[in-house]
Amino acid sequence: MKNDIKIFSPATVANVACGFDVLGFCLDTIGDEMVIRKTDKKGIYITKIEGFDLPFETTLNVAGVSALAMYEALKPDCGFEIEIYKNIKPGSGIGSSAASAVGSVFGMNELLGRPYNKTELTQFAIKGEALASKCEHADNLAPAIFGGFTLVKSVSPLEILEIPSPKDLYATIIHPQIEIKTSEARAILPKEVPLQNAIKQWANFGSLIHGLHTSDYGLIQRSLHDVIVEPHRSKLIPHYEDVKKAVLQHGALGAGISGSGPAIFTLSKGLENAQNVKDAMESVYSKTGIVFEIHMTRINTEGIKVLEDRRLKTDNRKPTHTH
Ligand code: HSE
Repeated sequence: MKNDIKIFSPATVANVACGFDVLGFCLDTIGDEMVIRKTDKKGIYITKIEGFDLPFETTLNVAGVSALAMYEALKPDCGFEIEIYKNIKPGSGIGSSAASAVGSVFGMNELLGRPYNKTELTQFAIKGEALASKCEHADNLAPAIFGGFTLVKSVSPLEILEIPSPKDLYATIIHPQIEIKTSEARAILPKEVPLQNAIKQWANFGSLIHGLHTSDYGLIQRSLHDVIVEPHRSKLIPHYEDVKKAVLQHGALGAGISGSGPAIFTLSKGLENAQNVKDAMESVYSKTGIVFEIHMTRINTEGIKVLEDRRLKTDNRKPTHTH
């Protein structure tokens, strides 16, 4: 008899050009699936991983570490098994570790009758994400849990703001199939920022947030610039400048490195522009010999969700199918 739920844990874009470590948004068409099962045997066990070669050892797996953080805080009278069906390539820049980190805690929270709110779940997930990036930040985690755009106002204490998503905004993301480790992409960043650059960055960041609130696509376009991180990290991404130039010529409002790369994200107004941007990306990258994937998606305002609920009726819940 099963007592589990299957969930969809979405990919995300962090930083969004000028919002390094604080801003992110949630994608719709790509994410991991996970099965979280409640068991009598106490403890957290990763019982299945498909898609990519990741550790089964709970303390070495991002999903295991965030699950343990929640498990140790709550001390429930049961255990959990976690199955991970990974679609998001690790080291892709679209929140692979974040999807794993939030999936386990979201699933456990559902099975336990939701003792924790979304901010508390993000707090546990930070522990898992830190295993991958060697630093506690939540800009991929928060959009995966809340959906839409999120702004991490502060990590300690954790405060997350939900930012509205203009309804015609689409993301097109190219993912060259090379791996960039977040920890390494962080290590190359300078520790100090010239004041002139900081001024430009916070002016753009404030304007971007205002543009998202007011659905001012022109302002969003004028604000999607990163003068602090992009100059350093773009060197790690083959043909970055060519892609950026091509997408801006073909209708993208802006483009930047997705998270720590190598994925490159763009935002566009309307599906037609998003499609033109996809074609422009394809025409640049198909000449390079580097294998790539492109994702075109609306902004996912729902975030992580239950796909299938196979809980026992003794849990006083009717099994539901939400897709
Ligand atoms: N803000 C993070 C970074 C996202 O760019 O390093 C990747 O985890």
